[in-house]
Amino acid sequence: MDLLKRIEESKNFIVSKYNCKIDVALVLGSGLGSIVNDIENKIIIPYKDIPHFPESTVKGHAGEMIIGDLANKKVIAMNGRFHYYEGYSMELVTFPIRVFKALGINNLIVTNAAGGMNPNFEPGDLMIINDHINMMGDNPLRGNNFQELGPRFPDMSSAYNKELIKIANTCAKNLNINIQNGVYIPVSGPNYETPAELRMLRIIGGDAVGMSTVPEVIVANHMSMKVLGISCITDMALADNLEPLDHLKVVETANKAMKKFVTLVKEIIKEI
Ligand code: HPA
Repeated sequence: MDLLKRIEESKNFIVSKYNCKIDVALVLGSGLGSIVNDIENKIIIPYKDIPHFPESTVKGHAGEMIIGDLANKKVIAMNGRFHYYEGYSMELVTFPIRVFKALGINNLIVTNAAGGMNPNFEPGDLMIINDHINMMGDNPLRGNNFQELGPRFPDMSSAYNKELIKIANTCAKNLNINIQNGVYIPVSGPNYETPAELRMLRIIGGDAVGMSTVPEVIVANHMSMKVLGISCITDMALADNLEPLDHLKVVETANKAMKKFVTLVKEIIKEI
């Protein structure tokens, strides 16, 4: 079935469960899912119930869509995303973003857990993504372009909306939350990086490294959505001082930063 038809069917299914204009879509990264506890009057839709959605396969990643009220806005939150390293095509990884846009949503907040390459960062820091370098070796827009969704050659001059970046920085300041800004580099994963890889990623201009987010951001920009990206720095990815890392540590650190993450995101949503 062609992409446009699949988007339409998924959208119609969600509308059949929740028929109300939604203001903001939220994609929650590893260990950052508990913000959904603050969503009120919510409905929960497991991915497996949504037509054309795959199921998330990673531990620590739930697989459901939560829709309801947060900070006086209607939000839809993806608790658990589809990662490229799980073997999904770029089209599937970004399919939920297509559905968000079809639902009439124009604001997207994407979040992730990331390794800090900027030596001024500390584990537990939050970083507003101000730009990215796509090092995944693939692109969700490769292949047939649907003009109905966006242009063949989309602009990426401000992939992360400047207004939203400003709002996020102001909110952090007002809440006394220490915030970093920087460039996010996604790699395909699933292995963490070698020191030599980290040295290169730092040299080319990265502040944080991860395995997600950018496909969604590219597709959102293709459809002219406004994007805000926030990384939770869960570990230091320093070429010359690299400690062994596992997923458990990543999720643990993300959970520790959860409280300020939730506070910040709620404030940002209020101001959008
Ligand atoms: N590298 C890649 N992805 C990550 C990391 C990392 O150090 N930490 C969390 N996700």
